[in-house]
Amino acid sequence: MRVFVSRRLPDAAIEPLRTHAEVAVHEDERNPVPRALLLREAARADGLLVLLTDRVDRELLDAAPTLRAVSVMAVGYDNVDVAACTARGIAVCNTPDVLTETTADLCWAILMACARRLYEGQRAIVEGRWAAWAPYFLAGQDVWGATLGIVGLGRIGTAVARRARGFGMRILYAARSGHAMAEAETGARRTELDALLAESDFVVLLAPLTPESRHLIGAAELARMKPTAVLVNAARGPLVDEEALVEALAARRIWGAALDVFEREPLPADHPLLALPNVVAVPHIGSASVATRTAMARLAAENLAAVLGGGRPRACVNPEVLGGTLGRAAPA
Ligand code: DGY
Repeated sequence: MRVFVSRRLPDAAIEPLRTHAEVAVHEDERNPVPRALLLREAARADGLLVLLTDRVDRELLDAAPTLRAVSVMAVGYDNVDVAACTARGIAVCNTPDVLTETTADLCWAILMACARRLYEGQRAIVEGRWAAWAPYFLAGQDVWGATLGIVGLGRIGTAVARRARGFGMRILYAARSGHAMAEAETGARRTELDALLAESDFVVLLAPLTPESRHLIGAAELARMKPTAVLVNAARGPLVDEEALVEALAARRIWGAALDVFEREPLPADHPLLALPNVVAVPHIGSASVATRTAMARLAAENLAAVLGGGRPRACVNPEVLGGTLGRAAPA
């Protein structure tokens, strides 16, 4: 059997694959595999270990007659056409759980950086604009005691809510279904999206990207938010209509935005969002701790090895192709 790994990953992490297959690796850590090379490798692969930068679509699947499994080193898998994989009997695996707490930490880091104007503060010092202590110099928004609205109370949303308790926050959430256990653990209360937008001081997006959730937050939704509110997106960029967000931020219809993800990644350096002082932007690093990225690589390899070896992967998003013995992996 043959497996293609689309980015250089630690040898120890991908070791489980070597017991089942000959492993070819795209030996570049920084840059995505060129599409033509991915298609060529897919054509003779039984398994692919890919990243969120690699599109697994019908074109690729049509070129991959022997493919049995696609393992994504991410919890989100919107880059994979799961329905097309399922129709061909190809298992799709992802890496939930191992990144939950690290991603929740990053949500909080950018939320607080925006609320308390940390980057603006550092720039002010570096540019020699810190003249003297002044009553309203870089005055931001309080986090403690504020209302936090989480859109999508999955694993990461729950971990964000857990942290919010330490800040004495009121926690609201909007989701397609109720989460009784998370409510009991965190005190979060379910509400409609419109009410959440109107009442929250911080709106945190943690919903998966699907055709229905694309541009979930557009001009109308931003208009419902408080003028003092901060929008945080640590899920997927296309959840937000970025053009509408730029307008709302520039007109100060909302107070700020803290963004880990963007409609187009990498975000071009001349993007209008980056010219706004009330934006905190980081380059899709929610799960980027050394330990967590290593755990994700390891889990992605183990999932793929399990499918190719005829076993049960820890996380599979279309378990029906494996004979229905596994539960469907829940969204992040
Ligand atoms: C994911 O896993 O989906 C993140 O976006 C990267 O960790």
